[in-house]
Order: sequence, then structure tokens, then C-alpha cells
Amino acid sequence: MTQTLTLRRPDDWHLHLRDGAMLRAVLPETARHFARAIIMPNLVPPVVTAADAVAYRDRIMAALPDGMAFEPLMTLYLTEHTDPADVRAAAESGLIRAVKLYPAGATTNSHGGVRDMDKVRGVLEVMAELGLPLCIHGEVTTPEVDIFDREAVFIDTVLDPLRRATPGLRVVMEHITTADGVAYARSADDLAATITTHHLVINRNHILVGGIKPHYYCLPVAKREEHRLALRKAATSGDTRFFLGTDSAPHTDALKEHACGCAGCFTATNTMSILAEVFEQDNALDRLEGFTSLHGPAFYRLPVNGDTITLTKGAPVTYPSKIDIGEGHVTVFDPGFPLHWTVK
Ligand code: NCD
Ligand code: ZN
Repeated sequence: MTQTLTLRRPDDWHLHLRDGAMLRAVLPETARHFARAIIMPNLVPPVVTAADAVAYRDRIMAALPDGMAFEPLMTLYLTEHTDPADVRAAAESGLIRAVKLYPAGATTNSHGGVRDMDKVRGVLEVMAELGLPLCIHGEVTTPEVDIFDREAVFIDTVLDPLRRATPGLRVVMEHITTADGVAYARSADDLAATITTHHLVINRNHILVGGIKPHYYCLPVAKREEHRLALRKAATSGDTRFFLGTDSAPHTDALKEHACGCAGCFTATNTMSILAEVFEQDNALDRLEGFTSLHGPAFYRLPVNGDTITLTKGAPVTYPSKIDIGEGHVTVFDPGFPLHWTVK
């Protein structure tokens, strides 16, 4: 007998779509299974103003193949010059669903990010008033802090003081990678956290043992096994504070397999198959729908999707190992174990 699993159609609460040929190649990989996604604004140049977000949303919709449905949930890239009135108008019109905080220098295309939190106080106050979530890349960039400690140090030295200084600010801790992140996300009602597909699967050994594996390198970098297990427990717990944000972040193979390789894992293609396998391994298939389809809309105060997807279990699933983007290829994340669930 075939085993089947029907879920409300999922959403991706953290996604990089890029622009141009890359956008056209990767967008169908997400739109095939997901109804909506929170679109990261770290383009070159970044999506900073409401006008930038309108133009980017139009480019995304123009890249969507005929017959596919998808709703991009736009975000603005917070800078020290962001105008609180522009954020207010963009939120009130429904154009944007969040603002993204990148500490300057934390990750891909983040040099225009924030250095001095006092300079964004006015924007944060408007956001708290509107209930507009701030999505935070939670890593300090201080050179003295070890890269494996950057998330934990950020929570203590930046995130907690920031939240105390702006009561009512609703925060999504993006792509948490540590037990410290899990614990902090559980500590208040105006907090939530996204967890990626790949951080449920890999620890730092996957990147470094037996030769360097650039396709497992992303930021925040995968941590020790005990942290991966804490993330698994949080994701499969049914706790509504945790939901899927794949952080699917395409870079061409030429830029990944490089002396100074780019950070990012591309998981859009096989995320649902991997998550079904992971939740089944942890005897939590009944909690997958919450993680992929219910907890995110609840935090973002949006309705859940009206339709469903059905996964079936059978012989190991095959999917392309690379996506052709015309001017190169993007390698699809390899979980390292067979996948048996496929979206019908
Ligand atoms: C992201 C990217 O490539 O834009 N990379 C990554 O490793 N996740 C940026 C980010 O989310 O940090
Ligand atoms: Zn990201």
C-alpha cells in the first residue's frame, strides 16, 4: 500500500531568489511546491526602499512560468539611512511583510548592513507599533569572535539588548543553528525562529571531514552535532515558534568551488522530500504540516494556504543534481541519505 501524506500547501519563510537568469532558473524550483516565500533583499544593490521592492516583485512575477502560482512576500534591507515613513507606507499597503537586518559584513552582500543599532531606532519603533516582523541574521561580525560562536554571542550582546530597547518589536531569528538560538527563541512570545532544511541534516563534520565540501558551506555555518540535534528537536516538537525558512541560496558551481567560495546551500528542489524523511526518522510526520505550513502564517499574521500538496512514499526519489542557469550550474543540496517521499 502506498503511504501518502497530505499537507496544507507549504510556504518558505526565508528564500534567496536573486535576479536575472538565476531568478528565472530557481523560481520554478520553489513555486512547484510552495505558495509563498519571504524574499531576501540582499541583491546587488540591495532592496532598500518600497520602490525597490515594487520593482523586484515585478521582476519576480515576470520570471514566473505560465501556469505556476506564487506569491512573493517582500522585505526591505535595513540600512542606517532607511526612512521610517517609507517602511510604514510599504507595510500598511501590504507591499512588505518584514524588514531584514544584516549586521554589516555578516554574509553575502551585507556590506550595506547596520553597524550602529541606534541609527535604526526610529524604524524599529515604527515596526513595533505596526507589528511588522524584523528578520535578523543573528551573527556578530567582530573579527575576534570565533565563527562557530558568532550566533551565541549575537544573542547576548546584540539581540537581547535590542529587544529590551524596543519593547513590542516582533523578531524572527533567521536560520538558527545552535541550541542557544533554540532556547532564546522559546523565551518570549514576540519571538520566532526559522530553521533551514540543511541545518537539520548536516553538522560541521559534513563540511570538513574527508576533504572540504563547499556545497555544505553556508552562513551561519553548521555547528556541532549537539546543536543539530537541538534544531531537530525544536523543528519536530510542534512548538509554533519554529517554522521552515529554507535559506535556499543559489550560487553557481564556479563560485562555490572556488579558493574563496560563496556561502549558501541550494535546497529549493528537494526540501519537501528531505523534510518528510527527517520528520519520519524522528517519528514526527504528524508535525511536518505545522512546521512547513501553519506556524509561519500564524507568526506573520497571514491566512494559511487554501490548497494542499500530497506526498507519497515509495522507491528512492531521483531529482536533478544540478540546475542549469544558462551561464553555469547550481548544485542541489545532497542530504547524504536516500529520499523516499515525493510531492505528487
Ligand atoms: C546567503 C546568500 O547567499 O545570500 N548565504 C547563506 O549562506 N545563507 C546569505 C545569508 O542568508 O546569510
Ligand atoms: Zn539567507
